[in-house]
Amino acid sequence: MRGPARVRVNLALLALLASAFLTGWLAFSYATAPARWSLVAHASAGVGILLLLPWKSMIARRGLRHPRPARWASVMLGVLVLVSILGGLLHSSGVLAWWGGYTAMELHVGAAIAAVPFVVWHVVARPVRLRPRDLSRRLFLRTGAGVALAAGTYAAGEVALRASSLPGARRRFTGSYEVGSLDPDAMPVSSWMFDPVPRVEAAGWPLGYDELAAYDDRVTAMLDCTGGFCSNQEWAGVRLDRLLAGRLEGAQSVLVVSATGYARRFPVEEAPRLLLALRVGGRPLSAEHGFPARLVAPDRRGFWWVKWVVEVRPEPLPYWWQPPFPLQ
Ligand code: HEM
Ligand code: HEM
Repeated sequence: MRGPARVRVNLALLALLASAFLTGWLAFSYATAPARWSLVAHASAGVGILLLLPWKSMIARRGLRHPRPARWASVMLGVLVLVSILGGLLHSSGVLAWWGGYTAMELHVGAAIAAVPFVVWHVVARPVRLRPRDLSRRLFLRTGAGVALAAGTYAAGEVALRASSLPGARRRFTGSYEVGSLDPDAMPVSSWMFDPVPRVEAAGWPLGYDELAAYDDRVTAMLDCTGGFCSNQEWAGVRLDRLLAGRLEGAQSVLVVSATGYARRFPVEEAPRLLLALRVGGRPLSAEHGFPARLVAPDRRGFWWVKWVVEVRPEPLPYWWQPPFPLQ
């Protein structure tokens, strides 16, 4: 392979890695239609990386012949990217969506995050120079053809998958698998990272258990976890606009705080759609699912559904005054 061809393959990989990473997080930001569109772009980028593999392996073999000091880090990068793609394919096909307490989706995202420092180092340590004469009309057309090929390959795979009897044929538009709907005992448990389950007692709960248990606002909503499962349940409790009646004047957001310190902030206009749930399927929540109360945020991904709520606080800050994804 000639020098300029190698440069083009490496730059195409860089663009594909960056777009896979961004569209993955974009998909996690929604539990509505944009999630599907980001995932179409996302999976196409992943397929694009696989299509470039024969060329990149030629580059890698050539590079590995030079005894560079940190070659192992490039090999590690290759392993992490391949593990991530494998996790993505295992999840999407459903061949192995769960593995003990872990999901293929967690493996997928975990390996992708772990690859980031390696990608940065790999690229910074090997500056590729793109000369203006390399940017031709032909390259532009080839890039377009490459993108179309990757998207077409993904689309054909998805059509075949949907027609197959693999579990992946029945996943939701967010890519999640529906588990234990309307059967709270079968609903999987997941928490942010490694948070242990706190035991919060009803007696002395700052929001007043008996008082709030008297409310019976109901909503049937799908909890769609970024770990790769979703579950539709009937939740009952108190709507936030009723809980906070008379206290929303001048507020721009509502902060919902967990006993673990975890918190998410919501736009105040959303209060009538948010439910502080004390029951699921007619029974009090279990400790794992957030006893005494958890937030139900329809059309938002699971990380917004704060468990073990100990405080619901109207604030003058805008709702976007928080990291887009929880950090703690
Ligand atoms: C899927 C992601 C990638 C993997 C798995 C990967 C893997 C490798 C491996 C194993 C080598 C040979 C060992 C070495 O030189 O350290 C290599 C070389 C190289 N890579 Fe990557 N790489 C990836 C993406 C990129 C990107 C995004 C760029 C730049 C934009 C890039 C630029 C280079 C260059 C310039 C070389 C040196 C080739 C030579 O010395 O002949 N790579 N890559
Ligand atoms: C190195 C970066 C990444 C690559 C190359 C990659 C690639 C892939 C591939 C090939 C699939 C399977 C697509 C299919 O056949 O449907 C997939 C699925 C998925 N990825 Fe990634 N991914 C990366 C990072 C991420 C990140 C950081 C996130 C989230 C923050 C993410 C979220 C997802 C989701 C939700 C699916 C499931 C899509 C579905 O089942 O329809 N990915 N990814």
